[in-house]
Amino acid sequence: MQNPFRPTAGATPPVIVSRHGILSEFEYGLTIRSGAPGLLTIFTGTRGIGKTVMLSAAEEAAQAQGWLVISETATAGFMARIGEAMRRAFEELGEKPSGRRITGVTLAGFGVTTQLAPEEQVGWREAGEKLLNALDTHGTGLAITVDEVHAADRGEIAALAANVQHFIREGLPIALVFAGLPSAVSDLLNEGVATFLRRADRIDLHAASVDETADSYAKLFAQGGHSLEPALARAAAEATGGYPFLIQLVGYSLWQEAEAGPLTADAVGRAIAAARRRNERTVIEAALSTASARDMDFLAAMADDDGTSEAGEIGRRMAASPSLVGKYRARLIDAGLVEPAGYGRVEFAIPGLREYLRSRVRR
Ligand SMILES: Nc1ncnc2c1ncn2[C@@H]1O[C@H](COP(=O)(O)OP(=O)(O)OP(=O)(O)O)[C@@H](O)[C@H]1O
Ligand SMILES: [Mg+2]
Repeated sequence: MQNPFRPTAGATPPVIVSRHGILSEFEYGLTIRSGAPGLLTIFTGTRGIGKTVMLSAAEEAAQAQGWLVISETATAGFMARIGEAMRRAFEELGEKPSGRRITGVTLAGFGVTTQLAPEEQVGWREAGEKLLNALDTHGTGLAITVDEVHAADRGEIAALAANVQHFIREGLPIALVFAGLPSAVSDLLNEGVATFLRRADRIDLHAASVDETADSYAKLFAQGGHSLEPALARAAAEATGGYPFLIQLVGYSLWQEAEAGPLTADAVGRAIAAARRRNERTVIEAALSTASARDMDFLAAMADDDGTSEAGEIGRRMAASPSLVGKYRARLIDAGLVEPAGYGRVEFAIPGLREYLRSRVRR
């Protein structure tokens, strides 16, 4: 058995830990087909928490019910790409039943601009109505997933929401599933660009349970014929803090150790250290790469605290005015590095970031 762990963004893990029942409203909605609350779902959560994996799971659930899936990322022009995918799917529908997933369509009818021209908007809605009516006669529907919505162009999101709302009003079988970073998604919902999306089921993803992580290690290593003592499986799970990306990183390194020799306490310790280093390189350093010197000052000031940090106190440490602190706070929240933690307080959004800053960055 090959190393089953998948420490790569968006890759489906061998065991999806601690996400039982999360899709049940969505799956129930698939059987109702139109207007069910679960058919409008937004996954939010910090980087590496498993949003894209949940989108894939939702896509699989939809396909299993015979639904057509259009899978998109909210980079410029996604509305046009969805429109083109719908048009194609309608043309092909006569030839082949649904239960398919469409990605990476080439653009023909719709331009690549972010704002569809008025005639294209009409075309978009018509393409959608035709496709949805055809799918309806098959007793299925269309699920559109959009990843990274926090980065979406406001005009495109507003147009998508308006059209989907229209389809729902017509009783057509449509599901819309989004994923994005929590605060940016909150802003998107609060700005009123797509009020209708406020009614979506918002599912905030958190760290997995350490117990279930340990169980998943025990199970996978047993399957691979590697013996892993329960206490060591537990130690490895604890080192992940239930953070999904670390679950994969630790599992991956542990598997490599198992291929080289018995899983002793030393071997487990080496695997944990290797996973932490890789987490720093791939998650933390990537997240910090766009931070300015002043952003770094703010983060370093936060790292003095063991728990959440108070904005006024950060201002004193940085010798910065409240308005400046507010500005950097907002920037860092948008970047997914920091999260609001109650009135006037913030906390780190990425596991290991505090420790990283303490060991690497001096104020
Ligand atoms: N429930 C889970 N159990 C175990 N591993 C998981 C789980 N969810 C995700 N993972 C793993 O965690 C990593 C990150 O998952 P994913 O890419 O879905 O996160 P994300 O929230 O979309 O991150 P980003 O914000 O960077 O896009 C992947 O390696 C994936 O295999
Ligand atoms: Mg993702």
